[in-house]
Amino acid sequence: MTLTLDTPLLADPADIAADPSRYRVLTGDRPTGSLHLGHYFGTLLNRVRLQRQGVETFLVVADYQVITDRLSPGEIAANVREVVLDNLAAGVDPDHTTVFAHSAVPALNQLLLPFLSLTTVAELQRNPTVKEEAAASGLASISGLLLTYPVHQAADILFCHGNLVPVGDDQLPHVEQTRLVARRFNERYAGGRAVFREPQALLSPAPRLVGVDGRKMSKSRGNTIALKASADETARLIRRSVTDGRRDITYDPVERPGVSSLVEIAALCLGVAPDEVAAQVGGGGSALLKALVIDVVNEELRPVRERRAAYAADPGLVGSLLAAGAERATAMAAATLADVQEALGMTAY
Ligand code: TRP
Repeated sequence: MTLTLDTPLLADPADIAADPSRYRVLTGDRPTGSLHLGHYFGTLLNRVRLQRQGVETFLVVADYQVITDRLSPGEIAANVREVVLDNLAAGVDPDHTTVFAHSAVPALNQLLLPFLSLTTVAELQRNPTVKEEAAASGLASISGLLLTYPVHQAADILFCHGNLVPVGDDQLPHVEQTRLVARRFNERYAGGRAVFREPQALLSPAPRLVGVDGRKMSKSRGNTIALKASADETARLIRRSVTDGRRDITYDPVERPGVSSLVEIAALCLGVAPDEVAAQVGGGGSALLKALVIDVVNEELRPVRERRAAYAADPGLVGSLLAAGAERATAMAAATLADVQEALGMTAY
């Protein structure tokens, strides 16, 4: 049976702008710590932009994913709160977003079993992001949860029929796996009927940021500029970041990762090309570059910090958002599970 559902893996922003009502965003974060500037330019701004265009938004706080690559959940309750506040601070609209914790929606886990039946062990073992996270975890062995996490993510996306996933490029393998699950479900279990749509990924125009130590910006490396950091902390982090001894500032990510990352951050804040920033600083050296970056980052984050303070002042807000989101997501997941079980003939006993 051939399906005429073929959509490319990568979504076309022009299509979305032309007809936002055809799209539903599902995206999410792992509550392992506060979100940072890399998340902000990499995905949060995209979420806000899509929402302003009128695309419906679902946001999963992927709490079970925390224990995929570490031995304990850590400060999970505090981190869930921070991640929700980070999204709201970035401009995600709480009145128009269904935000929920994975653990609050049991039917998501029930979807996992039929979805696992559509996934081969070989696919999971060669998933580059799973491999990378397994290596970075430092653990001697990979847990079943880490191996199967692309399939959990498929359940996150498909339960609400999300068809647009704004993510960083490290998440593309999971969107591809989700597309396989959707396609195979329709073919094998639903006689070619489109029970699920194949989701598309929306990559941000921003490159992956390098952290203040010159390596990839990542929570686990402690080299991030957290969105919740104060203006002073942000200035201190930027001043401390690794550059090199050359006085002339150029944009050369391969030879000069530290300098180029700062140039990139300034360019993102200013909405200009990196070369333009480099030319502007010219022979001013790292000190002048850092002063510029401190200025523009703090300017960019000023409204983010203001929104965060306003939302954080309401102590019940995050809890009630999560409760309302869980209720809505639970109803949708139950309906999807019923469709899945019906397709499998499991409702006729
Ligand atoms: N794996 C994602 C991350 O590490 C978080 C996530 C969980 C997610 N479920 C999702 C992202 C569904 C997009 C869609 O950041």
